Amino acid sequence: MSKRETLHIESMETLLNTNDAHIRYIKQVNDQHYQELNQKRKAIIVTYGCQMNEHDSEKLNAMLMDMGYDMTKKFDDADLIIFNTCCVRENAEFKVYGNLGHVKKLKETRKDLILAVCGCMMQQPHIVTEIKKKYKYVDLVFGTHNIQNFPSLLEETLKSDHQVVEVWENEGDVIEGLKINRLKEIKAYVNIMYGCDNFCSYCIVPHTRGRERSRKPEDILEEIRQLASDGTKEVMLLGQNVNSYGKTLENKVDFADLLSQVNAIEGLERIRFMTSHPKDISRKLIDVMAASDKVCEYLHLPVQAGSNSVLKMMNRKYTREQYLETIRYAREKMPEVGITTDIILGFPGETEEDFLDTMRLLDEVKYDAAFTYLYSKRTGTPAATFDEQVSEDEKHERIKRLLEVLNPSITEKLSHYKDQVVELLVEDFAKTSNEKLMGRTRNNMTVTFEGKPELIGKLVSVKITQPKNFSLHGELVAVIR
Ligand code: SAH
Ligand code: SF4
Ligand code: F3S
Repeated sequence: MSKRETLHIESMETLLNTNDAHIRYIKQVNDQHYQELNQKRKAIIVTYGCQMNEHDSEKLNAMLMDMGYDMTKKFDDADLIIFNTCCVRENAEFKVYGNLGHVKKLKETRKDLILAVCGCMMQQPHIVTEIKKKYKYVDLVFGTHNIQNFPSLLEETLKSDHQVVEVWENEGDVIEGLKINRLKEIKAYVNIMYGCDNFCSYCIVPHTRGRERSRKPEDILEEIRQLASDGTKEVMLLGQNVNSYGKTLENKVDFADLLSQVNAIEGLERIRFMTSHPKDISRKLIDVMAASDKVCEYLHLPVQAGSNSVLKMMNRKYTREQYLETIRYAREKMPEVGITTDIILGFPGETEEDFLDTMRLLDEVKYDAAFTYLYSKRTGTPAATFDEQVSEDEKHERIKRLLEVLNPSITEKLSHYKDQVVELLVEDFAKTSNEKLMGRTRNNMTVTFEGKPELIGKLVSVKITQPKNFSLHGELVAVIR
């Protein structure tokens, strides 16, 4: 793994100018290919993992377009395949390995096909070693910290006959000015910070995304103003722990201040954010949420476990009681607030009694949705070395028991929506049919209804007719604006 701690980009401008030169070179090569064969080179990006990765892929996508690639959805058509990987749980890694095997076959018949892998998995030295040893047909490996150098790395790959590997062990400066080709028009991801300093004992993210660093408010606000003037209706502010936004900045500004400033931007309809850490959520933040017309009444507040001893072993730095008090306050200030969570089952040392604490917490909070995960051992994290690992059978048994309680409770909550009229921002066609549209309520419930495509991007009111199978269906009542 090459170590680039000493590398300092002289200025953002220098980086962007250097990038331009590499982009121009690749575009020339691709244009020539087009003239000779009357066919544009095509690229596909397969993204695994969270919104951070999705957003990184939007940056790669913009670079690819500038390099003269067309995007495709099919592996068979692609001249360049990029896997932007995730390693938060073992399953995420299995998926990547499975797809690498699939591409190996394609590479056997198509010698000029380029395969690049990047993202969080590549920030782990043992994975890079494995790729070098067992996946020699991968042409390019890079990590999360040097995504901005993709054009120069791709040029090097095109010119070389060996595997190009460049992964930085540490994060560099916050990079501004990279183009982003957003996949969704109505709703845009906006990074407000990078990295994570929390080191929850099970989690690999602080190792793959580096130390926490915040973007300056003026850069964030400028990006959002531009988005709003280009027609974006909703922004999703992204960070691993948005509640600690601003801690690394010279001018002290916190997340609540930032939200108020974003709320003042004209043309935007809605503001959301992900993810809130319960230890840092302040009353000030909840007050600002309640008072700001564009900030949606929705909190994804991962609890992870309902038992204080497990929370302590997880290094989460809050207690069950503090968590419940936050929920109580949020509901007092925003009675309609949608609350969702993440739960890990089978954390090392989790006893039956600890597990029952989690079950009781679910019953108490009555979440609108909960994402449940089996604990997955991540090399390099403290929890991987804890003695009392819970057996796979036990983990599956617990998740089954938990879902037996959780699912009916969510269905019961959904049933209260029947005949209610809700306000939706229409985001897209529904997944199931092109005659139906999909919109979201302020508290993050998705609703499908019949409507014309022109409604996409509009605020509408819809009457809920049928709460079914974790989703809501409705009928259009009126177009608001
Ligand atoms: N920064 C966010 C998201 C982290 S990853 C946060 O703190 O909430 C998303 C979720 O994956 C976590 O909330 C956690 O529930 C789950 N997760 C992370 N590491 C895991 C592991 N080793 N095993 C199982 N689930 C894990
Ligand atoms: Fe992982 Fe914890 Fe950071 Fe979330 S807050 S990314 S769970 S270390
Ligand atoms: Fe996965 Fe990296 Fe996100 S490990 S969850 S893609 S930050």
